[in-house]
Amino acid sequence: QPSVDFYEAVGGGETFRRLVAAFYRGVAEDQVLRPLYPEEDLGPAEERFRLFLQQYWGGPRTYSEQRGHPRLRMRHAPFRVGIVERDAWLRRMRDAMDEIALPAEYDAAMWDYFVRAADFMVNHVEDL
Ligand code: HEM
Repeated sequence: QPSVDFYEAVGGGETFRRLVAAFYRGVAEDQVLRPLYPEEDLGPAEERFRLFLQQYWGGPRTYSEQRGHPRLRMRHAPFRVGIVERDAWLRRMRDAMDEIALPAEYDAAMWDYFVRAADFMVNHVEDL
């Protein structure tokens, strides 16, 4: 589990704010992802994701104070996450990470995590 050193090294809360803002700009225009989001306003979803990421990467634990245990697979169960959705999500995240352009070793650590986490969230197997 990442420590506060990682959080500070990548630029703290401001970095996660920029990352999720870039990511949700992509989601807003994504024809696969946008329909999955139940709310008209993506702002609250962006905020939950931002708080989760800053907690995961060693920052303030506000996410769990507000939302409890993350249980991310369970929280994604209402949404169909197949290979198409996973790939769309990762493409938007790759674009967002390119936009914030972290130093290579931090970029690699976070990207590795996102690839694994996105695989873990898949809950629907497409017909072959
Ligand atoms: C919530 C889609 C992967 C973290 C959501 C929501 C959707 C969604 C539709 C509900 C929006 C809301 O909060 O109102 C997807 C899809 C994924 C994916 C299609 C493709 C694989 C991930 C990954 C992470 C993540 C990899 C973490 C690294 C979260 C968090 C929430 C959330 C923290 C809010 C949970 C809460 O209610 O507290 N996601 N997601 N998601 N997602 Fe994802």
